[in-house]
Amino acid sequence: MDENAIAILGGTGDQGLGLALRFAVAGRPVVIGSRKAERAVEAAEKVRASVPGAAIEGLENGAAAERAPIVILSVPFEHCAPTLKGIQPRLRAGQILVSMGVPLATAIGDGATRLVGVWQGSCAELLAGLAPDGVEVVSAFQNVSAHRLQHLGAEVECDVLVSGPAPARRRVMALCSLVPGLRAVDGGPLANARIAEAVTALLIGLNARYKVPEGIGIRFTGLPGT
Ligand SMILES: NC(=O)c1ccc[n+]([C@@H]2O[C@H](COP(=O)([O-])OP(=O)(O)OC[C@H]3O[C@@H](n4cnc5c(N)ncnc54)[C@H](OP(=O)(O)O)[C@@H]3O)[C@@H](O)[C@H]2O)c1
Repeated sequence: MDENAIAILGGTGDQGLGLALRFAVAGRPVVIGSRKAERAVEAAEKVRASVPGAAIEGLENGAAAERAPIVILSVPFEHCAPTLKGIQPRLRAGQILVSMGVPLATAIGDGATRLVGVWQGSCAELLAGLAPDGVEVVSAFQNVSAHRLQHLGAEVECDVLVSGPAPARRRVMALCSLVPGLRAVDGGPLANARIAEAVTALLIGLNARYKVPEGIGIRFTGLPGT
């Protein structure tokens, strides 16, 4: 396992591909995961076409999860728990699982500007209950627009609320500085993922009301050192 590598399960989709592009530009090795290895290879080729010389490969989700100390789960909320259950045996103690899922009500056929209730409190806490012993779950990147991630010509301009156990949280916060315009904000314990996830539903509504298909971001003001 390359200690600098980042695995993105479901990295064939909009958000995962956007993160893959940005991390590849920053020179980090990226492993894209998919349910089908050939789709992952195709996505990796897309990244290589945009970022010549990128250290990128595409593998089936389970194989991808074995390849990196930080594994980002980038599938729609309703598929997060089943995907994690499918790769459970492939994860090892010491790895970090990043939860980016948002329990949008689209999961039950309702709209994307509302959430469904999750008994555990959030997608991230649901996943923390399913992660193997020693695998820490950190919540991040829910409020970042896929469109802006994929548009490599511009900065992303968004704060990223990162929540979870302290040492793992700091390692995920460090990933934000790889993407121009992203700023990590220390979101404290994993329970605060509930807030970050809810903000995404709000942002989706704002995008529609203000007609910003590229995606509105968030900024916290008054933070020391900024
Ligand atoms: N899009 C955004 O702007 C945005 C912004 C913030 C956060 N997010 C979050 O990021 C995550 C990914 O969003 P996205 O827009 O990239 O999603 P997406 O494009 O709809 O799907 C991502 C990937 O999920 C996999 N997938 C689809 N159905 C599946 C199933 N039944 N079981 C397992 N995997 C399945 C697919 O990969 P394979 O077919 O290759 O397996 C697909 O490419 C979501 O949790 C979302 O809430 C998205």
